[in-house]
Amino acid sequence: MVVVRRATEQDFPAILQIQREAFAEYLNLYEVSAWTTETLESIKLDAKDKALLVAESEGTVVGSVRFWTVAGVCVIRLLSVSPTHQGRGVAKALMKDVERMAVEAHKLYLCTMLRTPRNIGLFLSLGYRPESLLPNHYHKLDLLCMSKYREPSLHSS
Ligand SMILES: CC(C)(COP(=O)(O)OP(=O)(O)OC[C@H]1O[C@@H](n2cnc3c(N)ncnc32)[C@H](O)[C@@H]1OP(=O)(O)O)[C@@H](O)C(=O)NCCC(=O)NCCS
Repeated sequence: MVVVRRATEQDFPAILQIQREAFAEYLNLYEVSAWTTETLESIKLDAKDKALLVAESEGTVVGSVRFWTVAGVCVIRLLSVSPTHQGRGVAKALMKDVERMAVEAHKLYLCTMLRTPRNIGLFLSLGYRPESLLPNHYHKLDLLCMSKYREPSLHSS
């Protein structure tokens, strides 16, 4: 069973390890070193103004995600699941909890690498829709940004 909870500082080494392993999948395709080499200092700094969640399976951290809300827009980043636990709904569980916790957000927003059909399929299945393309963006990656509005009526206001 997967349990999602807020991360504590004790979880940071496990989060970095999972991030390293998860993003290593793209090593020969994309510039992902910012995520595979993130340091403890950097994640501690990030945790000062962002919420970090971890997913646990049988007491072991197997996934994580970070999010923060600015003026009603919840930005979701660094969704990572240990390669040994992928394909079992861990990412979906993390995303559901982000949505549950980001109570003040009218819009949920994330970007993913353009050439990752699996990620795009995952976010589409959770109700996210493509919003914009950011060519040559962070680390010169082409990104597809996707979003989901909590209430359609807020979209036009
Ligand atoms: C993307 C990632 C977070 C998905 O984690 P996960 O726990 O495997 O995802 P889930 O098990 O919750 O799967 C959710 C959906 O993703 C899709 N999916 C998952 N694994 C898949 C695979 N091997 N092939 C195709 N689709 C797959 C399916 O649509 C699945 O939905 P379903 O359960 O209804 O079939 C994980 O693969 C990962 O860490 N990747 C590397 C880092 C990354 O790209 N992060 C995203 C940055 S935006």
